[in-house]
Amino acid sequence: MRHYTLADMLIGHVDQVLRTLTPNSMPALRPSPAQTYASPVLNSEQQTEIAGLMRVNHTGEVCAQALYHGQALTAKLPTVRAEMQRAALEEQDHLAWCELRLHELHSRPSLLNPLWYGLSFGIGAAAGIAGDKWSLGFVAETEKQVCTHLESHLQRIPPQDERTHAILTQMHEDEDHHRQQALNAGGADLPQPVKQVMGMISKVMTTTSFYV
Ligand SMILES: [Fe+2]
Ligand SMILES: [Fe+2]
Repeated sequence: MRHYTLADMLIGHVDQVLRTLTPNSMPALRPSPAQTYASPVLNSEQQTEIAGLMRVNHTGEVCAQALYHGQALTAKLPTVRAEMQRAALEEQDHLAWCELRLHELHSRPSLLNPLWYGLSFGIGAAAGIAGDKWSLGFVAETEKQVCTHLESHLQRIPPQDERTHAILTQMHEDEDHHRQQALNAGGADLPQPVKQVMGMISKVMTTTSFYV
């Protein structure tokens, strides 16, 4: 097994950060679920609304990358660390799909993404330090909240936009799987106040990313 020095790991991490925050630098491993559907006819209001929602989802995926990167750095058990890295890789698809859809809608990712990356990385690293059962419990709760968001977005996206629907439906399936995996690996149920704080932070993120 290859031994990584501190410098190797630092360079690797800077590379991960730059790839997460630079458009078109994070290739999807799976093709976008949108590709089998034709582009819908949308009026400008619908287009703005969908772009806002996809910007929120894109920022959510930037946060997911950062959380997993932070946790992977501090998680204690090697099995958990490997699991985190695999999950982050799957989130990479979501990031790329959202980015592509935003581009199709003539829009762009949120300007606040570097800020959210930094905050989420810190939260992920803290969860990793708290211990594996809390770290996994944190993943499970995050994914649960993401699923609730995705369900509300699916209600708001006009039905004719099958491209966006296909992306969000696949993301929902994947996130629910990540939640289940984290619970199966021993994730603990987080205390209610922690869940509430997570909900509040996510509210700030979703509100600001919709516009900025
Ligand atoms: Fe995701
Ligand atoms: Fe996920």
